[in-house]
Amino acid sequence: MIRNISLQVPDKYFNPMASDRFSEKKGLVAIRKRDVVRGLTVTNVVTPPLPKTSPPPPQKSGDRRDHSSHVHVAWTSVRQERWEGELVVDGEIPLWLNGTYLRNGPGLWHIGDYNFRHLFDGYATLVKLGFRGGRVTFGHRQIESEAYKAAKANNKLCFREFSEVPKPDTFLAYVGELAGLFSGSSLTDNANTGVVRLGDGRVVCLTETQKGSIRIDPETLDTLGKFEYSDSLGGLIHSAHPVVTETEFLTLLPDLVSPGYLVVRMEPGSNERKVIGRVSCRGGPAPGWVHSFPVTEHYVVVPEMPLRYCAQNLLRAEPTPLYKFEWHPESKGFLHVMCKKSGKIVASVEVPLFVTFHFINAYEERDEEGRLTAIVADCCEHNADTTILDKLRLQNLRSFNGQDVLPDARVGRFSIPMDGSPNGKLEAALDPNEHGRGMDMCSINPAYLGKNYRYAYACGAHRPCNFPNTITKIDLVEKKAKNWYEEGSVPSEPFFVARPGATVEDDGVVISMISEKNGGGYALLLDGSTFEEIARAKFPYGLPYGLHGCWVPNK
Ligand SMILES: [Fe+2]
Repeated sequence: MIRNISLQVPDKYFNPMASDRFSEKKGLVAIRKRDVVRGLTVTNVVTPPLPKTSPPPPQKSGDRRDHSSHVHVAWTSVRQERWEGELVVDGEIPLWLNGTYLRNGPGLWHIGDYNFRHLFDGYATLVKLGFRGGRVTFGHRQIESEAYKAAKANNKLCFREFSEVPKPDTFLAYVGELAGLFSGSSLTDNANTGVVRLGDGRVVCLTETQKGSIRIDPETLDTLGKFEYSDSLGGLIHSAHPVVTETEFLTLLPDLVSPGYLVVRMEPGSNERKVIGRVSCRGGPAPGWVHSFPVTEHYVVVPEMPLRYCAQNLLRAEPTPLYKFEWHPESKGFLHVMCKKSGKIVASVEVPLFVTFHFINAYEERDEEGRLTAIVADCCEHNADTTILDKLRLQNLRSFNGQDVLPDARVGRFSIPMDGSPNGKLEAALDPNEHGRGMDMCSINPAYLGKNYRYAYACGAHRPCNFPNTITKIDLVEKKAKNWYEEGSVPSEPFFVARPGATVEDDGVVISMISEKNGGGYALLLDGSTFEEIARAKFPYGLPYGLHGCWVPNK
């Protein structure tokens, strides 16, 4: 039986269901017969009985300020633990689109009557869109991490989340919690950041902690258990965004003791990561935060960002302004280039100060004789301004009053010379006004990973806003953007799926999940080339904002 205790959502965080196509009878969700899609009648699609939502608990949280009576569904805890069924489609889903889009993200921001503070604190909500024969099935489900299960069982926070720390009942419990931090046992395994499909078909949800690697079933969304790394590399954290292809899984393991990074590789079918090489930091007391990193065909680019991990902040009981990080401009910023094959560092350059969560792509530039002259690496760059982290506090997200408070961001293009020069360049790849000076949550055509590419898809800004609220297609050759925008809607990361057999980079579709201002939500499909809407499929209710996704082709 699914316990209801953790699913009490304050009414004020609730929005009315806006769908006219769903009705609930005796615990079953049905789609009316009148909708016909591509000649296929969509008939009563039912799901198992679902836990009902409960009355609101009293307000008690890290953010003690009372919120407005209307909070956008994007920043509202997920309505119920799970739902599954078929969606009605407006428009046409391409018949070639044959697989499942999975999206992970923090969707439950309270436990009992305690409300979390930061977007990244929430318990993981996994969402799927299954495409087959022009039809779409939808489902969402909470990931059964140890942190989530313990919170449900004890009705309180039991592990350290991004900005939340369990409140020990006694001094001894406090000492135990601190000891647990050093051993890693008190860190969360709440795998709420991304989801990847390994080359062997296993699907793993991930977050910044290594223990937060959890296998799931992409069809049922069942939690299958912890993904155990069988090597003895140790460490507590890793990049939340490994680079995953059919042939390998590459990631970075920051070394907080002797500041640096291990670059590691894991083969399909294996749980053992093998070291490719090591980068020692050139500045600062700790490695820079590596939420993501880029690769080219032959090289791994290891960023050393001046926003660095901070062991003291990890130990603190209350959030610091930059959470687990510290801004060290005096330590400078660097990019290191490691050969994938040999593990040798072939370039290490100082670059202008930068702040990025997400690298977009990287590629090698060669001269006419084929000699490597430079490496280009693109990222969603926040103008070396760390305030974006604070803007993602739930209180800030929930209290948008029309003021334009989203900090500017751009496509930051690094150029790393390969002639031994000590400095690399960083500049905007295009005028940031093309995308409203908002830029994050990016994707590309995966066939162009590590290669010279032209198009990036991301969330941009239609101002005034407090969060990226458009989907933008960036043309890095023409230096132009096409923007999708709907007033009051919050789109999640646009995810590109190429048409099988495509020979043109933008021949495919872009999938995003939209949270609407009226509390509704839908899956949106844009044509990858024209960026026009080709289909949408309404959800039974709006979903909380989600982060990153992956594509699982149908067997
Ligand atoms: Fe991310």
